[in-house]
Amino acid sequence: MVDIKNIVVLGAGLMGNGIAQVAIMTGYNVTMVDVKQEFVDKGMASINKGVNRLEEKGLLKAAEVLGRLKTSLDLASAVKDADMVIEAVVERMDVKKQVCKTTMDNGPSHIIYASNTSTMDITEIGEDCGAPERVSGMHFFNPVPLMRCIEVIRGDKTSDETFQITMDVAKSLPCLRGERYIAPVLKSRPGFIVNRLNAPVGIYGHYIRDLAYEKGIPWEQLDADYAVLKAPMLPCVLSDYVGIDTSYYGALYYVEKLSPDFKPGKVITMMFNEKKLGRKTGQGFYDWSEGRPTPDTSIKAGLVDFDIIAAIRMNEGCRLLEEGVVKSYNVIDEANMAGMNTPGPFERGKDRYKELIKKLEEFVALTGKTYLTPCEMFKTGKFLEMA
Ligand code: CAA
Ligand code: NAD
Repeated sequence: MVDIKNIVVLGAGLMGNGIAQVAIMTGYNVTMVDVKQEFVDKGMASINKGVNRLEEKGLLKAAEVLGRLKTSLDLASAVKDADMVIEAVVERMDVKKQVCKTTMDNGPSHIIYASNTSTMDITEIGEDCGAPERVSGMHFFNPVPLMRCIEVIRGDKTSDETFQITMDVAKSLPCLRGERYIAPVLKSRPGFIVNRLNAPVGIYGHYIRDLAYEKGIPWEQLDADYAVLKAPMLPCVLSDYVGIDTSYYGALYYVEKLSPDFKPGKVITMMFNEKKLGRKTGQGFYDWSEGRPTPDTSIKAGLVDFDIIAAIRMNEGCRLLEEGVVKSYNVIDEANMAGMNTPGPFERGKDRYKELIKKLEEFVALTGKTYLTPCEMFKTGKFLEMA
């Protein structure tokens, strides 16, 4: 089995710089690659800040750790002596396929390409690269150093060795907030586990955000509806944190692969077109120029029905079981907790699933969003046998 020592992290953005940071902290030699020096510099600034903060806490020696990091603007030369590429470029299939091919054309014959795509099929990413058996998925959560979950994905052609190496590298990467949780994804289906579970909540989210926009309700008030959940981030803050472009491209991918009901709503489309991408551009639902916003949640919009959200998530979790992406609903709940620091749908909702099915059917009748129709596994309660 290949011994991974040299890793190229492709993309120095939100995810790439976090991945590069945890990789140098593990002891790997890392070259972080982007297309422009300014993107590399921004990524480097974030890594420096993180590593220096850890030195202040006496947890590492910054100079030693940073000494393992190089940067480059040229992927073809950066992969020459690399054992693995972890790719975190923009969420577009054409770009991912192209950089995968550049990796295989220029890297050594053992190089592995692991994509951090949020949604896209690993088989398709690798199909034209000439070595699909060396392509896998390694899906991190944002921010990488603090979120425990990494989903490791097998494409149809991923070899056992590639999958095992990807698992081993994932397990080796430290997490600053608890123990790493590695979720093997048994089938490369859109969104894998955690994102897929929550993707159709986006259908409801687009509906509610467009409604709030039409009624002139401020985003703070919409977020205030969710404050009762005590989740670590309110939904509009989280959307900004993740990046509106990532959600937008993800939704388009789900439209292509799952259903037209995932079509991005008016609000998200407008923000995407106006480049109000959230944290990364300084403006999204909120202004990020002074750091992470803390919305005033004293006035609620009163638009959100949590039973519908619970029903949508449980239904989608059941689809994951039907499609063989995972074998047990506990894995779904655990992965969601490790990836988003919020509970999954099953443990809380399983005892009242019949009531939730009724709610979901009413919502489908109201909106015509037929993708949300309860699936067989949910309707029959068969999922209860898959704990
Ligand atoms: N290196 C070193 N230390 C770091 C660091 C880094 N890169 N980043 C943060 N830290 C440190 C901070 O300095 C801080 O320590 P000090 O207080 O000693 O300075 C500590 O970590 C905690 O940082 P924060 O104060 O920022 O943390 P918080 O308590 O506010 O929690 C959070 C932050 C964990 C992100 C929490 O808000 C949360 O769980 N949010 C939800 C995030 C989420 O859902 N992510 C998943 C999105 S979906 C996704 O990612 C998948 C996809 O494909 C789109
Ligand atoms: P980002 O926009 O912050 O960073 C992407 C970086 O990739 C940019 O700096 C861009 O210049 C660079 N890039 C684009 N094309 C490139 C190329 N051909 N070669 C080298 N660099 C290139 O985006 P991000 O949030 O870091 O997302 C990156 C990937 O990670 C996406 O696939 C996204 O779906 C996935 N992801 C994002 C999150 C999240 O919360 N943001 C979480 C998990 C996974």
